[in-house]
Amino acid sequence: MLRIILLGPPGAGKGTQAHKIIEQYRIPQISTGDILRHETKIQSDIGIKAQEYMSKGALVPDDVIIAIVKKRLLEKDCVNGFLLDGFPRTVGQAEALRDANIDIDAVILLEVNDDEIVERLGGRLVHPASGRVYHIHTHPPKSAGIDDVTGEPLIQRQDDKEETIRQRLRVYHSQTSPLIQFYQSKLIEVDGEKSTSEVFADIQAGIQKIV
Ligand code: AP5
Ligand code: MG
Repeated sequence: MLRIILLGPPGAGKGTQAHKIIEQYRIPQISTGDILRHETKIQSDIGIKAQEYMSKGALVPDDVIIAIVKKRLLEKDCVNGFLLDGFPRTVGQAEALRDANIDIDAVILLEVNDDEIVERLGGRLVHPASGRVYHIHTHPPKSAGIDDVTGEPLIQRQDDKEETIRQRLRVYHSQTSPLIQFYQSKLIEVDGEKSTSEVFADIQAGIQKIV
């Protein structure tokens, strides 16, 4: 059983590392951002509502997101654990997990400074269907604008404009960073500014200590 939370500012590399972690430990990735973008794409009621917040770089209301995650965690593939990517991001969300008796084994905190984040997100390309992420300079796809695995086109996320990135950072510092204190006893701090493979090695070393 391995129940992990990936915590960190926008662009810290949560999605990038999540793909490596789920492959290694055979647990599902639950990315609330990916779920919300899917709902937006199919124009469901939740998606239409969420889009208003996401496009401004604001958080979607706790009640909406908590309901989504609780339902997702009941699915069969979560019996041996799960990786939460982008949830919780408020103390209210963390308390909802605790109050539902959903235990967490470790909280991995990816630390990256704000200027590096603006640089990373400004050059990010995404494959929407899988959540795979690239960067035009540091992690380019094999052929420009095309996903390596499926051959489908890559897109730039709507909230990756500099102004919106700065707003997401403000939201992280005010609403999400208090979780560092909340999860103090379970925290694995990782320097997210190292290379992708070094970051993954540090994450594995951290997980090794708790399993
Ligand atoms: P979400 O989709 O979760 O976005 P985020 O937290 O802002 O984080 P990102 O996905 O932008 O970054 P990441 O850490 O995954 O980095 P990545 O690996 O892609 O949320 C979006 C929105 O949805 C929120 O703003 C909110 O509105 C809503 N939402 C979601 N969850 C919610 C919740 N729980 N409550 C309320 N609202 C919620 O990497 C970024 C780039 O950096 C890539 O180009 C990558 O190639 C590059 N990179 C990665 N690692 C490295 C490295 N080590 N060195 C160099 N470059 C790297
Ligand atoms: Mg992500």
